[in-house]
Amino acid sequence: MKKTKQSVVIAGGGSTYTAGIVMMLIENQDKFPLRQLKFYDNNAERQDIVAKACEVIVKERAPEIEFIATTDPEVAFSDVDFVMAHIRVGGLKMREQDEKIPLKYGVVGQETCGPGGMAYGMRSIPGVIELIDYMEKYSPNAWMLNYSNPAAIVAEATRRLRPNSKIINICDMPVAIKKSIANILGLKSEHEIVDRYYGLNHFGWWTEMRDKEGNDLMPQLKEHVQKYGYAAAEEEGNPLLDETSWMDTFQKAKDVYAVDPTTVPNTYLKYYLYSDYVVSHANPDYTRANEVMDHREKNVFAECTRVAEKQTAQDTSIEAGEHAEFIVQLAGALAYNTHERMLLIVKNEGAIANLDDDAMVEVPCIVSKRGYEPLCMGKIPTFQKGMIEQQVAVEKLVVDAYLEKSYQKLWQALSLSKTVPSAAVAKQILDDLIVANKDWWPELN
Ligand code: NAD
Ligand code: G6P
Ligand code: MN
Repeated sequence: MKKTKQSVVIAGGGSTYTAGIVMMLIENQDKFPLRQLKFYDNNAERQDIVAKACEVIVKERAPEIEFIATTDPEVAFSDVDFVMAHIRVGGLKMREQDEKIPLKYGVVGQETCGPGGMAYGMRSIPGVIELIDYMEKYSPNAWMLNYSNPAAIVAEATRRLRPNSKIINICDMPVAIKKSIANILGLKSEHEIVDRYYGLNHFGWWTEMRDKEGNDLMPQLKEHVQKYGYAAAEEEGNPLLDETSWMDTFQKAKDVYAVDPTTVPNTYLKYYLYSDYVVSHANPDYTRANEVMDHREKNVFAECTRVAEKQTAQDTSIEAGEHAEFIVQLAGALAYNTHERMLLIVKNEGAIANLDDDAMVEVPCIVSKRGYEPLCMGKIPTFQKGMIEQQVAVEKLVVDAYLEKSYQKLWQALSLSKTVPSAAVAKQILDDLIVANKDWWPELN
C-alpha cells in the first residue's frame, strides 16, 4: 500500500539534535515519507545556522520535500501531522546555572535530576505548553512527540494542564543503554531486544530482556554489568561514549546494579543512589553544560556553517543516531499503524499495579494509529516503590509550585529530593535558583 506523505515541524529548529533528525528523516523516506519539513524556533539567528545546512541536505538528497524555517507559529504549525519538539528554555547558559548552583552547596548539579532539574522544569513548562497550544490551534489532529526536558516534570505538567492533548513525552536513554547492551551481547542492534522495564523518566529498571526467539538475555548481561556496568562498548556505535563523563556514567551502572541485582538499572539512578560520589567527582567550575558548549554545540554549528558555505553536504559528518531513530520510529508507528513496542512516558493507570494511577511512568507501550497502549508491568518491590513514590512526589510538587507560584511547594520539592541532604540546604539552593531564574520563573509567593 502506498504511504500517505507526512508533514513535520521540528520545534527547537536551532537544537544541536535537529540536523541528526533531518538526516534520519531523509534516510527513511521509504518508511516515513515526507511532503513537507518545517523548522520552528524563537531564536531566528540560532535556527538559521542549522536551517541553512539542512536546506542544502534536503535539496541534495530529497528535493521533493518542501523545506521551510520560520519563527512564525502560524506558518510553522499549520498543516502538520507531527510536531517533533526539543526546546531548551533558557538555553545551555541556564543549564550551566542549574548545574553549578547546587554544586556550590555540595549537591548534585544535573540537567534533569535534583534541584537543577526542578529549576529547568519551572522554565520548560510554559515553553512546552505554548507549543501544544500552537499545534492545537493550527493543526488540531497532529501529534506532538516531545523530547524537551526535564521530560518527567514536563509530562506531569502536560497531564495536568492539557489532559486531552495528543502529546507523547519520550526519552532516548533506555534506547542508548540498550544499544550498548546489544553491543555487549553481540546482537545486531537494540531492536533485537524485547524488554520489560518500569519506572519514571531517568528513574527506572529492567526486569527482563529477551531476544526475538524469547531466550533470556539477563544472565549473560548481569555477568557483564556486575563487572563493567554498561561500558565496553567504547569502540564503536555509541556516540555518547565519546565523552569521558558519559563513560563514567556507563561504568557506574555497575554500582547501581549492585543495589538490586534482580534488575538492571537506568544509568540516571546514579544521581540518586550515589550522589556523594557524583558530587565528589564533579568540577564545580566546569560542568556538563560547559562540555556541551565547548564540544557538541561548537561542532554541530561549525559543521552546519561549513555545509552552508560549500552548498553541498556530500562529505558531511552530520549523522543520524539512535536519538533520531527513536523519534522517527515513533512517528512511523503512529502514522502507519506498525504496533511497535516502545518505552514511553505515560499516565500509569495500572501499568505499575501498586503505584498511583496519576503518576507519569516510563513503561513499554504498543504504538499504533490509535495511539499508545501501555503494557502492565505488575507489582513492583518495596525498594523501587519507595524510591519511585518519593520522586513522583517531588515532580508533582514542582508542578504544584509552578501552578500556585508557591515558594513553599518548591522548597518542599527540593527538601524531598533524595539528592538534597536537608531542608536548610534546600532553602539555600532555592534562594540562589530564584535569583538566577528571575527572567524565567513566575514570581513565587
Ligand atoms: P539547544 O539549546 O541546542 O537547542 C534548543 C533550541 O530550542 C534552541 O535553538 C532554542 O532557541 C530553542 N528554544 C528555546 N526555547 C524555545 C521556545 N520557547 N520556543 C521555541 N524554541 C525555543 O539544546 P539541545 O542540547 O539541542 O537540547 C534540546 C532539548 O532536547 C533539551 O531540552 C534537551 O534536554 C532535550 N533532549 C532530551 C532528550 C530526552 O531523552 N528526552 C535527549 C536529548 C535531548
Ligand atoms: C540523554 C538523556 C537526555 C539528556 C541527554 C543529555 O540523552 O536521555 O534526557 O538530555 O542525555 O546529554 P548531554 O550530552 O546534553 O549531557
Ligand atoms: Mn532522557
